[in-house]
Formats: sequence, C-alpha cells, structure tokens
Amino acid sequence: VRQKRRDLAKIPPGPPPWPLVGNFGFFFVPSFIRRRFGPKSDSADKNAMIALTEKAEVYGNMFSIFVGSQLMVVLNGYEVVKDALSNHPEVFSDRPDIPTVTIMTKRKGIVFAPYGPVWRKQRKFCHTTLRNFGLGKLSLEPCIQQGLATLKTELLQLSEKSAATGLNLAPLISNAVSNVICSLILGQRFHHEDPEFRNMLGLMDRGLEICVNSPAVLINIFPLLYYLPFGVFKELRQVEEDITAFLKRIIVKHRETLDPDHPRDLVDMYLMEMVAKQAAGEENSSFTEDYLFYIIGDLFIAGTDTTANSVLWILLYMVLHPDIQDKVQREIDEVVGVQRILSLTDKGSLPFTEATIMEVQRLTVAVPLAIPHMASETTEFRGYTIPKGTVIVPNLWSVHRDPTVWDEPDSFNPARFLDEEGKVFRKECFIPFGIGRRVCMGEQLAKMELFLTVTSLLQAFKFSLPEGTPPPTLNGRFGLTLAPCLYNVCSQKESCHMCSHR
Ligand code: HEM
Repeated sequence: VRQKRRDLAKIPPGPPPWPLVGNFGFFFVPSFIRRRFGPKSDSADKNAMIALTEKAEVYGNMFSIFVGSQLMVVLNGYEVVKDALSNHPEVFSDRPDIPTVTIMTKRKGIVFAPYGPVWRKQRKFCHTTLRNFGLGKLSLEPCIQQGLATLKTELLQLSEKSAATGLNLAPLISNAVSNVICSLILGQRFHHEDPEFRNMLGLMDRGLEICVNSPAVLINIFPLLYYLPFGVFKELRQVEEDITAFLKRIIVKHRETLDPDHPRDLVDMYLMEMVAKQAAGEENSSFTEDYLFYIIGDLFIAGTDTTANSVLWILLYMVLHPDIQDKVQREIDEVVGVQRILSLTDKGSLPFTEATIMEVQRLTVAVPLAIPHMASETTEFRGYTIPKGTVIVPNLWSVHRDPTVWDEPDSFNPARFLDEEGKVFRKECFIPFGIGRRVCMGEQLAKMELFLTVTSLLQAFKFSLPEGTPPPTLNGRFGLTLAPCLYNVCSQKESCHMCSHR
C-alpha cells in the first residue's frame, strides 16, 4: 500500500478527482447524458477528444484523470504518443480490463486481448490469412469493385427518388464496407435489406450503443449493475446472448460444409488451423472455436464503422468544399475518364485525390482516442511514475492537430501532403491507424477500401447539400469511433469534366 501511495504521488498532474466517480462526467460524458442535461447548441457540444486536448494546455501533454478509482493517463501530441507507443512498446501495448468490454469480448479475439504470446499468434494468423485472401495481391479488388458497382446503381435509383430532400448515404456505405469484411471472413456478400445481415449489424450496433452511450457505461464503475434485471442492463445481456447464438450458427455451418482443398474464407482457414494444431499434438493451443467466435466479432466491429465513417467524412468535406471536390474529379477524369473502372494501380497517378483522402483522415480521425492501452508494469516515463494497470489513452486527435508538427493544423489543406513535384509524401506524424505494436491490423485493407470507394463515387457522382439545408456541424458524434453528424446529400450523375470544360 505504501509503495502504491508513493507511485501515485509521482503520477502526471491532472484535475482533482471527485469521490467515487473520479473525473467521470467531466470528459467522458456519454451522449445519453449530454442529450438530456448538456448544452443544446452543437457548437458547445464538445467531444471527449477536444476536451482532453484542451486540458493538455493546462496540465501538459501527459496528464492523469480518474474514472471511478481507475487511473488513466492521457497522452497528447505526436512526441509523447510516439515515445510511449513506439519507443516503449513492451510496457504500453497491453489492453485494460474494462468491465463492459470484457463482458462482450471475454478478453479474447485480437482487439481487446491482453498483450502477449496468445494475442501475437492470433493476430499474426489473421493478418496473414487476410493478406493471402487478397490484401496486397489485388485479388480482393474485383470483390470491392463488384460491391461498388451495386452501390452506384442503388445510389442512382435512390437519389432520383429523393432528389429534393437528399439522401442519407450512411446505410449504403456501411453495407458496401461490411460486405468486404463478410466476403473475407464468411465468404459471403449480403444485400443491405437481407434480414440475416440486418439482424447481425443491428445486434452489433445496439451492443456498442448500449456499452458506450447508455446508463450501462456505469457498469465500468459499478460492475454489479450488469446483473440488474431491467432496462438496458437486461437488454445488454440479451444482445450478448443473441450475438453468441448468431456467430455460433455461422461457425457450425462452416464446419459442416468445410472442404480443406478449397478454403473459402477466414473461418475455414481458422478451422483448418485448429485441426492442424490438434494433429501436431498442441494440447493447449489457443486456436479454438471459442477464440474464433470473438475474432469474427472483432473484425466486424473494427472493420466496418471505422471505414464507413471515414468514407462519410470524406464525402462531407467534398460537399462543404466544392472547389476541392471539383479538383479531385478533374484529376480522376484526366487519368481514368468516366467509363473505366478505377483500380488500385491508379493510386500513384491520382496524388491530389490521395492527399485529399489523407487530409480528411487527419482532420477527422475515425478512432480519435485509439483503443485504450494499459501499462503492463510500473514504469518511469518522461519524469513521472506510471503504475502497473494504468489505462493509457493515446489522443490521436491531438496528434493530428499538434501545432508543433503541422502548419495551421485546423485548416483543411490537402496540398500539405504534396511535395514540390506534386507527389504524395507521408508525414510520420500522420497516424490515423495508430502506431506501435497495436497499430491497426486492417490498415492496408482500409486504405484499399477508402481509395476505391471514394474515387469510384466521385467518378460517378457530384455531391452537394440539398438546397436551403444548413451545413452539418463538423464536431461529429463520438462513440467508439468518430462519426459525422447525419447529413443528406444530393448526388447528380457526373459528366466528364474535361469535356464540359472544353
Ligand atoms: C485497431 C484505426 C479499419 C482491424 C485500430 C486502432 C486504430 C484503428 C486507431 C487502434 C490502435 C491502437 O490501439 O493503438 C482504423 C481506421 C480504419 C480501420 C481509421 C479505417 C479507416 C480497420 C479494418 C480492420 C481493422 C478494415 C479489419 C480487418 C483492426 C484490429 C485492431 C485495430 C483487429 C486491433 C489491433 C490490436 O489490438 O492488435 N484500428 N482501423 N481496422 N483495427 Fe483498425
């Protein structure tokens, strides 16, 4: 106890905590509370990452807050985030045991698994398998292109019907993106109205919504609340049961139809790996159906909202900056034209388009506070003591707004990613996918999807807000990811810019 007190005396400074709740409610105000008690105007409705970035001006780039009695250290700015995650990976790559998350994941799978040999093996296997199924080898490209062709047809039909009011693109984009994950993991694509598909997405959305934005967040401070027999607590248990039943059905179906000579997807490959490990006599192998179950859930959750929200942010910026939308479309027209299907090999010839995608990712940061890390041992870091078990919050949003590494960080300027010859250059402080050992496992897949989706849509359509509609706030909605506030767009079929120019 004395040692613990001594450690706590040397932790980074921070605002004084309240008894029982700590600083909960000051930074992490779930939207259900904000909606009810918070400020009514959008501009005053600050998301957690903005509030945390502002606090860094008071307490410095590393400061402490408490959620209940749990110590959290927030890392702000590029230098500190990089120092912790890249230079001290052995200490800062673990994941904390957050009660609501542990209920849903049992700390298995990849995203919330503790740092160690089991996580490493599972991550390596999934990464290699996804790569073999197409990442980096372009064989996933036709699958994405097929989905995009469907998306464009649907968009054309629906936008004609809703010409006056505009259309909310979120469900269509979300469907196209989750179908890529479905193809890779389940070997199957779904129509966005397919009841099985809607049920699966609905359950996952609801589970996340309850965990992040409902009174169930209090389970993180008082874990016994989980067992309350009413309200969102009861609903959370039901959602968990339904997701379990759904994923178990998928695994059973795969097991019954598996042909080892023709594996169809990640689930097949995983089942084969399990058999291989058993045959090799590895009795305590972590490759079990139980693990597979959580991996499927992880990849859906990690791979769907992040990518869909990034596409929606990019389209929103295009709508708000018609001059940039025009410039991107001219570049696509010049290089690809309006007919040819866009390919990843076009990327190198579309530098302004790529720079625009990166600039929106810089400003919006789909996962602004990354996924919480945890100190796996007590350590001295930059003059402070970080006790074992401290939750580490890398504020990626602050890295992308850090004035020591970006000129005019708040302004939207795609050209900052172009060199004098007009070629794209990647700044090392651009880290939308995180940094270090826990860096996003789907980075290549996400980049591929973002490029193909955004360019294909901008090749085919011109996007604008419905006449008379005020522009939506750029604050976004912060849950696990940062989503743009809902907006409707009008999409007109695009004619060739070069021809109309001539
Ligand atoms: C983790 C961003 C798409 C799978 C992460 C992290 C970030 C991130 C910031 C946390 C890094 C950390 O904890 O320090 C994004 C963005 C995406 C995207 C911005 C889209 C634009 C995807 C996709 C997949 C995926 C498509 C699916 C294959 C994962 C996994 C992790 C992760 C499995 C956990 C890695 C680990 O804990 O070892 N992502 N991601 N992500 N992402 Fe992504």
